[in-house]
Amino acid sequence: MKTILVTGGMGYIGSHTVVELINKNYDVIIVDNLYNSNKIVLKRINIITGVTPKFYEVDCCDYNNFEKIFKENKIDAVIHFAGLKAVGESVNLPLKYYQNNLISTLNLIDLMNKYNVKNLVFSSSATVYGAPKSVPIDETFDLHVTNPYGRTKLMIEDMLRDYCFVNKDFNCALLRYFNPIGAHKSGLIGENPNGIPNNLMPYITQVAIGKREFLGIFGNDYNTVDGTGVRDYIHVCDLALGHVLTLDKLFTNSGLVTYNLGTGKGTSVLELHDAFEKACGFKIPYKIMPRRAGDIDSCYANCDKAYKEIGFKAQYNIDDMCKDSWNWQKNNPDGYTE
Ligand code: NAD
Ligand code: UFG
Repeated sequence: MKTILVTGGMGYIGSHTVVELINKNYDVIIVDNLYNSNKIVLKRINIITGVTPKFYEVDCCDYNNFEKIFKENKIDAVIHFAGLKAVGESVNLPLKYYQNNLISTLNLIDLMNKYNVKNLVFSSSATVYGAPKSVPIDETFDLHVTNPYGRTKLMIEDMLRDYCFVNKDFNCALLRYFNPIGAHKSGLIGENPNGIPNNLMPYITQVAIGKREFLGIFGNDYNTVDGTGVRDYIHVCDLALGHVLTLDKLFTNSGLVTYNLGTGKGTSVLELHDAFEKACGFKIPYKIMPRRAGDIDSCYANCDKAYKEIGFKAQYNIDDMCKDSWNWQKNNPDGYTE
């Protein structure tokens, strides 16, 4: 049984990946400082899988406490989700983002080196493609970023590319996620943002439960099918499975690999809104608002490389994603509570 250390494993994508790893018989250790998550997630993981993973409440920026995890456990691979991810906040508090995202990763690479752990999956983002020259986007596209959050992702990718260049026995996957939504079928784990949601799906679900009055749609004059922004929404359980497939690849001594994880299909804001109405069975009021600074027309992935090299293909469609997001929100109107 291989042991996987999951940083940020109590968070949205991390918790779904932990479930998938346990289902595939991995031994899982979670490290999370609970900055953007809740301890109840552990109980929920246990209800779903029958297993409670070992959990360390530790900040990955705290080298000494982080090191204890490597001292106490024999780790085969790390999946590194821990990080701050709010684009808008990163513009206002850039140092917070550089400090948290870069230091935690530097500590991690240093400790992996020290304790001879040779396999790493890193959560990168489609944000590294900036405003792409065309869609769909493949992994060879130019990289350029437009905000401090994105810059941390690109800097970490660069660090890892440099590290892999001289450490040929180090296996590392840079996974560029498109837009994860949805939740585990059980409705026990899901996305649980603090405060006003920045992202589209959690905003819609909060309108649906009556926490917000209406959805603001940021612009309807984009060069897209109906004028609203187009994105590549991927079910978080498909994304979770992508990590398990990626681990299999790393264990073949892959060296450095980079994959887009999306569905390859673009969906507009209005299309997602309509699909959600279908899923919940009632109207979601919306208003057209001005464009949001920094948004682009269209962003969706070409996922051929992930399919060819690791057999990754998203199974769930937009209707499934809406149904599962709604199921999670409806069962947990106030997020994680006992
Ligand atoms: P999340 O906030 O739900 O999960 C991140 C987890 O990391 C949280 O539980 C948080 O408490 C923890 N964490 C943060 N800093 C830490 C630190 N220094 N030490 C220990 N734990 C720490 O976010 P998510 O949506 O699950 O995203 C996971 C990763 O995927 C992030 O790196 C994010 O940037 C990346 N990503 C997310 C999206 C998305 O839309 N959700 C898209 C692309 C990439
Ligand atoms: N949108 C609205 N109203 C809202 C929220 C969003 O109309 O209340 C629109 C946006 O304008 C955009 C689309 O919905 O057209 C999706 O917006 P999100 O904020 O949900 O997602 P983004 O594509 O802007 O960004 C997200 C993450 C980034 C990540 C990127 C790619 O926030 O960190 O996906 O993975 F880089």
